[in-house]
Amino acid sequence: MDFPQFFLDFFGNRLLIAVIASIHVFINHPLAVGAYPLITLLEWWGRRTNNPAWDNLAYRITFVLFIVTTTVGALTGVGIWFTTALIAPFGIGSLLRVFFWAWFTEWLVFISEVVLIMIYYLTWKRWAEGALKKLHLGFGLFLSVFSWFTMVIIVAILGFMMDPGSWPVTKTFISAVANPLYLPQLAFRTTYAMMLAGLLAWFLIFFFTKKGSDFRHRAVHFAATWSLAWAVPFIPAALWYWKQAPETMLANINVALLTQRFMNWHETLAVIMLATVGVIILVTVIGITRPRLIPGVVLLIPFVLGIWLLGHFERAREFIRKPYVIADYIYSNGVRVEEMPVFQRDGILPYATFVKHHSITATNKIEAGKDVFLVTCSRCHTTSGINNIVSKFNNLYGPEPWDETVLKAFISTMHVTRTFMPPFPGNDKEAEAMIAYFKELQNNRQLIYDAQARWSPRAINGDQTTGNP
Ligand code: HEC
Repeated sequence: MDFPQFFLDFFGNRLLIAVIASIHVFINHPLAVGAYPLITLLEWWGRRTNNPAWDNLAYRITFVLFIVTTTVGALTGVGIWFTTALIAPFGIGSLLRVFFWAWFTEWLVFISEVVLIMIYYLTWKRWAEGALKKLHLGFGLFLSVFSWFTMVIIVAILGFMMDPGSWPVTKTFISAVANPLYLPQLAFRTTYAMMLAGLLAWFLIFFFTKKGSDFRHRAVHFAATWSLAWAVPFIPAALWYWKQAPETMLANINVALLTQRFMNWHETLAVIMLATVGVIILVTVIGITRPRLIPGVVLLIPFVLGIWLLGHFERAREFIRKPYVIADYIYSNGVRVEEMPVFQRDGILPYATFVKHHSITATNKIEAGKDVFLVTCSRCHTTSGINNIVSKFNNLYGPEPWDETVLKAFISTMHVTRTFMPPFPGNDKEAEAMIAYFKELQNNRQLIYDAQARWSPRAINGDQTTGNP
């Protein structure tokens, strides 16, 4: 198996998109959307109070933003296109057709943002006085608006994927944008990004100011005030977002936050998440009232906690949308809801683009079964890695050779019993071929185990005698 294939099969298709998209969001929210207004305010404050220390702090933070957003930020943004086009070509294709002009605009805004940040950073020292400084501040303001504008556009698409609203009937661009989750999610993300930017400033203050200095305390006070001020609108925004999420999705939340196995812990996790918000708020309150009491390392913690929370929000949002990639319109495996009856009647292989076999014969059964698995399950399952299909069936039916009729019964009701999975989009013959492939995998797995069992006594002996494995 070559490397890309191994990588995709071990980590799974979901995780590939998730890792790249999450890194992008971790950079975009605090370092782009939230940070530019904060920096511009710092710069303005330095000019107003005639204190170059503020200006200098703003400049050094901007250097970090400049480097990170134009490299990892931009690359992961493009990476999302590559991974989604690879893994969910039909999903991204549908979104492109609906949101073409929105995305077109977003690219223009994105390019302008990169140019603006270059101007903003590179002219900082040269445009330091009088009218030029004013112009520089103007660029900061522009940059703040532009980076938020990318969020304004993209959140419309994210909301649409969770609940397309009246679009399935009207099929208009406006109705797609005006989906029920758009404004609440925009309010949620905007306020959270602003809060996180304050926490990021804390993080950087640790490196960019002197320990115990009066300026550090003032900077801590400033960033804490910023975050706490944004926490005020954040709380109602979060509740609004929660209230707007469709019932069927909220029903998924306990599997979404953790996994099926740890589902019963989801309340514990919810408590931990709330407690994290509590700790962040408490620390920022202390940062405002008694900045001297905040030890250096504590400056680093809230940002890390904030990113951890953001990761969970993203994971939950992605998961509760299951079994759909675009709610009620297209399933996560790329099958459109209205195509489902046709595939269940004729089979999916005759219509599938990326498969080796378009029909099942006596000689190709297992290979064709693999094709069926790749098209219908592999967006969410691997064969040997994360969420792998062999362990899943082993958990349910034990390690003895599985019974075909039992597996077939599972597959025919999989959506009814586990609503987060789509119905099986194929016919009986394809289900049987896929089951033959699963049994082959189980058998191979057993061979691997047997081989390991033969090896392990030697390994233990080696350990005891030489200390080497
Ligand atoms: C939309 C994503 C998705 C698709 C597509 C999907 N599954 Fe799943 N499946 C999941 C998730 C998520 C779980 C639960 C993982 C966990 O939390 O343990 C799961 C669990 C399972 C389980 C274990 C159920 C249990 O209760 O332990 C089996 C078996 C399974 N899937 C088989 C399949 C088969 C076969 C296909 C293809 C025909 C398929 N799945 C397609 C997401 C999916």
